[in-house]
Amino acid sequence: MADKADQATKGSITMFTGKGGVGKTTCAAATALHHSSRGGRTLAISTDATPSLSHIFSITDGDKPARVTESLYVNELGIAEVKEMWDKKFGREVYEVFSSLVDIEYPEFVDFMTSVLPGLSDEFMVDYIRELACAGEYQAIVWDTAPLGQTLALLKTPALLGQHLKMAPRIYSKLKLGQRSREPVLDILRRWEELSAVNMDFLRNEVEFVVVTIPEALAVEQLEGVFGEMNAYGLPVQQLVINNVVRDDGSDFLTTRSRQQRSYLDHIHDRYSELAIIELPMFPYELKGIDRLKELEKNLCR
Ligand SMILES: Nc1ncnc2c1ncn2[C@@H]1O[C@H](COP(=O)(O)OP(=O)(O)O)[C@@H](O)[C@H]1O
Ligand SMILES: [Mg+2]
Repeated sequence: MADKADQATKGSITMFTGKGGVGKTTCAAATALHHSSRGGRTLAISTDATPSLSHIFSITDGDKPARVTESLYVNELGIAEVKEMWDKKFGREVYEVFSSLVDIEYPEFVDFMTSVLPGLSDEFMVDYIRELACAGEYQAIVWDTAPLGQTLALLKTPALLGQHLKMAPRIYSKLKLGQRSREPVLDILRRWEELSAVNMDFLRNEVEFVVVTIPEALAVEQLEGVFGEMNAYGLPVQQLVINNVVRDDGSDFLTTRSRQQRSYLDHIHDRYSELAIIELPMFPYELKGIDRLKELEKNLCR
């Protein structure tokens, strides 16, 4: 295992989380644009299985990462990258353990592990981003995530996996493995447990969390759950963004909308008064492409 100095990350890592459709990807894209426009090499990266970062930046080429401007890059982590990581970290070694119990070919094994046990691919996604941060290639990494449930699962995976792995040696030592030596396998399990702990530390200490919401009943209700879970894992939220705030322009339509939002806005400000809260206006157009995103950036990054 690398020593502490090797594990230190460089630059900032900001993760955007929240319910589906509230504007996470849009806010992540605008934030990435902000960092890159100040000259820092920036990566906007998504761990959403149905990512939309490329779409927002109108990227059509298949480069990974794809270059948007001189200093802005976009990447979307999919199952292919996760499998590659798996392979690099301990694919063969874990396979050794597994294949001593079950008759299975290696490619099948990797498919099985990464698709049937989603927690493992989550762990690798966190690890992938930690490695990127440690490599120091980017001054800012902006992390766009999947809708809430999936992201919370991703955030708690390192802690849960760590706990489960603590049990593994006991179970493993009860298994009959013929002549195969147990020691190397116990070693792998220990290293894996350590990796989970390192990834949890990374999430706790290096990542800034931004929760995005909108002033509507369901989104506001779900905030309690988000903050509860984040607290339970010791993940501090740095900022709360309330997106899609309607500005009353005197028309019946917007006056009604804006009045309805008022009670939710009041509630959020009251309930989360200790947090830095930013309100973003609802724009009359789709926020796609650099020029549109700059409009949002002005409001979001001050
Ligand atoms: N402040 C805003 N004003 C107008 N449209 C917005 C705003 N924020 C987001 N949108 C639009 O809402 C849709 C969903 O946003 P997106 O960022 O993809 O949400 P999420 O990533 O949370 O699912 C997109 O079409 C986006 O252009
Ligand atoms: Mg999104």
